[in-house]
Amino acid sequence: MARILITSALPYINGIKHLGNLVGSQLPADLYARYMRARGHEVMFICATDEHGTPAELAAAKAGEPVAEYCARMHGVQKRLADGFGLSFDHFGRSSSARNHALTQHFAGRLAEAGLIEEVEETQVFSPDDGRFLPDRYIEGTCPACGYERARGDQCENCTKQLTPRELVNPRSAISGATNLELRATKHLYLRQSALKDRLDAWIDSQKGWPILTTSIAKKWLHDGDGLQDRGITRDLDWGVPVKRGDAPWPGMEGKVFYVWFDAPIEYISATAEWADAQGLDDAAWRRWWRTDEGAGDVRYVQFMGKDNVPFHTLSFPATLMGSGEPWKMVDYIKSFNYLTYDGGQFSTSQGRGVFMDHALELLPGDYWRWWLLSHAPETGDSEFTWENFQASVNKDLADVLGNFVSRVTKFCAARFGPQVPAGGDYGALEHVVADELAGKLAAYARHMEAMEVRKAAAELRAIWVLGNEYLQEAAPWSTIKSDEAAAEAQVRFALNLMRIYAVISRPFLPEASGRIMVALACADWSWPVAPARALEALPVGHAFEVPEMLFRKITDEERAAWAERFAGVRA
Ligand code: 2FM
Ligand code: ZN
Repeated sequence: MARILITSALPYINGIKHLGNLVGSQLPADLYARYMRARGHEVMFICATDEHGTPAELAAAKAGEPVAEYCARMHGVQKRLADGFGLSFDHFGRSSSARNHALTQHFAGRLAEAGLIEEVEETQVFSPDDGRFLPDRYIEGTCPACGYERARGDQCENCTKQLTPRELVNPRSAISGATNLELRATKHLYLRQSALKDRLDAWIDSQKGWPILTTSIAKKWLHDGDGLQDRGITRDLDWGVPVKRGDAPWPGMEGKVFYVWFDAPIEYISATAEWADAQGLDDAAWRRWWRTDEGAGDVRYVQFMGKDNVPFHTLSFPATLMGSGEPWKMVDYIKSFNYLTYDGGQFSTSQGRGVFMDHALELLPGDYWRWWLLSHAPETGDSEFTWENFQASVNKDLADVLGNFVSRVTKFCAARFGPQVPAGGDYGALEHVVADELAGKLAAYARHMEAMEVRKAAAELRAIWVLGNEYLQEAAPWSTIKSDEAAAEAQVRFALNLMRIYAVISRPFLPEASGRIMVALACADWSWPVAPARALEALPVGHAFEVPEMLFRKITDEERAAWAERFAGVRA
């Protein structure tokens, strides 16, 4: 049994996330967490809301609420939606927690002691029209690297280059569009990432088997141009973690807070401490996941995120951990995703284009979305959500293949032999052939799941469902029964056992539907079919079951058309 620490990139607090956000981190992380738990490993699956920074302040202002109240409320909203999608976090924390304040200040103190923090007197962009200093991401302009005209002052979302506002060509206020920006003096802390460059480089080189998407992004801005830049980690804002040096005040930094990207990844650790607090456990309970000197040496740590988050996780956060000089657990594997596009364009939070988590759950239960999103995860390139494709997947894969199998088997059995597992004799030649094929496919499925090859895993799972339907078609117990009742019973017994296996192995993708299959089977044996031949005998003869309600419904053409229209435009 291994110990696996899994974190999903933290969703920003401001607003409800769309399906593209969901499939880029939280959902595949959940798939992996559920799979690893199902295989008997000890899993710690952590997520939280990312609550600091200007976007939170602005969203609260727009909602007419004090920012702390806004964040508390939106955390509740995001938590409920996560539950609706079956996201099985061990803890869904908050980056504004007391734990994260303390730990962020602790790291800053350690980094300062290590000589890795520099105090920089600098001039910062002030916008008289907006009456405020403009944080980096509220300055827009043209990217000096790729020429993209809407690059933000912290990063170009087109080419992922990390930027400072000064590098932007033709800078303007993203709030008002004002171009009469001034520079005013202010003091900030910089993390001397450049001093850690060689260590980071060596650390990345020592990582075996990282996806190319991940390493190429990290290497690019480790080496391109002047190499890794030092990074400002404080801001002139009210909302955030107050700048302190451990417990001590930081002279000259009064009224400032840490930059949101400094405290957010630290929340991965803090949220685990929040988990321990919520469970009434002591510090050792969370530290054994995070401190290699306190038990985390044998933990495997996997992070899930969209590709735009990769630089922060391959360089900035590792720089914080390494620079502290303390034995913190570093990430072992980063699984990053491309983008999901929506019907020929981008999902847009600001324009409300595309399907958001709340609306999705109003239309259909979480499993329908989980299946489509995961089976079309943007792994090797971007992928596109279309309503046609969604309808086809749901109707074919879920209703016609898996749902139909479950319904045919249980209904036929109940009608002809009664609602319990029939006896019959031993399995025959066909069953052995199918069992062998199942064993091969299960092994492939497990390989893909372990490698986090989400689409391949989904395709293999679907193939396993198809195998069951093909078996039924070929065995045709409804014909067999006419000449050989015992053989028909054995066929049905085989199919009912297949059904239990389907519930077990489909659970990481379809937790709710799998649960319903097991309830119908009155079965609590979720053990993984490591030995398929034996697993096909798991349901004993005479075991009573119920015919389940329809597992998945189909999406009609009318619904598809109505939904496409409803989500094309501006969010209501
Ligand atoms: O890009 C985002 O959505 C960020 N909120 C991700 C933060 S991940 C972590 F570092 F906290
Ligand atoms: Zn660019």
